[in-house]
Amino acid sequence: NPSFVNIKDLMNKRLPRRLVNLLRLLGAYGNELKMSVYVVGGFVRDLLLDIENYDVDIVVEGNGIEFAKYIGQQFDAIVVPYEKFYTASVIFRDGFKIDVATARTEYYEKPAELPQVDISTIKKDLYRRDFTINAMAIKLNPSEYGMLYDFFNCQKDLEQGIIRILHNLSFIEDPTRMIRGVRFEMRYNFKMEEHTLEVLKQNLEGGYLERVTGARIRQEIEKILEEDNPMKAIRRMTNLNMIKHIFPKTYYTQTMDEKLARLFKFLPKIKERYQSVSDFYAISTILLEYYDKQTLETVRARYGYPKKFIESIKFTENIMLPLKEMIELRLNFSDIYKVLGKANPYVYLHLSAYLTDEGQSYLLQYIDTISSTKLQTVTGKYLMGKYSLKSGPQINEILEKLFAMKLDNPNIDEEKVVSEIIEMYNSKLEKETENQPERE
Ligand code: CTP
Repeated sequence: NPSFVNIKDLMNKRLPRRLVNLLRLLGAYGNELKMSVYVVGGFVRDLLLDIENYDVDIVVEGNGIEFAKYIGQQFDAIVVPYEKFYTASVIFRDGFKIDVATARTEYYEKPAELPQVDISTIKKDLYRRDFTINAMAIKLNPSEYGMLYDFFNCQKDLEQGIIRILHNLSFIEDPTRMIRGVRFEMRYNFKMEEHTLEVLKQNLEGGYLERVTGARIRQEIEKILEEDNPMKAIRRMTNLNMIKHIFPKTYYTQTMDEKLARLFKFLPKIKERYQSVSDFYAISTILLEYYDKQTLETVRARYGYPKKFIESIKFTENIMLPLKEMIELRLNFSDIYKVLGKANPYVYLHLSAYLTDEGQSYLLQYIDTISSTKLQTVTGKYLMGKYSLKSGPQINEILEKLFAMKLDNPNIDEEKVVSEIIEMYNSKLEKETENQPERE
């Protein structure tokens, strides 16, 4: 039951004036080129849901790149064409960006490969999309401006909170849609309907997710982690048996669930302190725990984790239980430092998953103390000058010892303490030489 209603009043009401003016102009320029112009996808979905979304995706029946270039001229905007896909981005002088595509039927040489493009009509274009809620268009040409094109009962699904594929090959054409489905479920509190779930499960078991590049999977997971309740999304993926198609040796247990929940509690604190911490790496510290070396290498290559990151997971999982004890017993920072040292944010996150709220706040104090503690007067140079020490591991050892002491006691007199440390070293040395039998 295709449905066409005009929603220009709604657009006027819900969209900023400037955006409405832009959309009208896009339609008018479409007429000049004799092309039908539509705004499509997430923009339409969120407009109808009354959720702010200014990601303008334009589809034209005709050559999208030609349209984009024309728009570029009219507005003196920058046009970035992607010839291979018949798409282009138009970046206006104020930085506002729209994406322009050519109406197309994507067909795939092999599943999960890049689409081949074939110029087509809006209806076919919409039919190739992921879910009904994302498969509506609004026409922008003046005579039909504001007309909502709904060929597949999309509005009804949107109203009823239903996520539905448009055809049975949807997940095969793009398996990342399985993850997108979960994301939309969580974001809008919608549900995938029965048939969609059935096809999803079949395609999951069919190994289609495994055929997608790791980079694309990772992108989708990152998007899910940016949503409001990532924990809920992970649980949903677990229930759908999706996790093991992403992380092949991960058996999601109650314990793992609790660890992740605690890690998510700590995550904002780490992000305040370390910019650019990746949520994907963060959850990986738990999801990849106790992996064998070979599988770790496989996922490393697939998802592009740095070698150092993988090594640090291995290192951390071995010291987790003693560290948990030490933190719960509130041992001195200097003692914790001997085991944990100055670690990277992912080691802290990994550890946080083992800790109660109180443990986490002690860990946070440790982290802050480590990063604010600096030796002021005693340096390697100082030691070489004042005590004629030769450069070498001994100097580092002394500096580390002093640093550890300062962690517990920030007001120590560095020069005094270091003289004591050196005295101790010397007397130890003397004792050792005294005890050695005299040689010829
Ligand atoms: N799309 C699709 N299949 C995909 C990705 C996208 O069919 N695997 C289509 C959908 O119609 C979608 C549109 O392309 O609405 C734009 O995709 P994208 O910008 O990724 O998503 P949005 O729907 O805009 O969602 P978000 O709010 O998360 O950006």
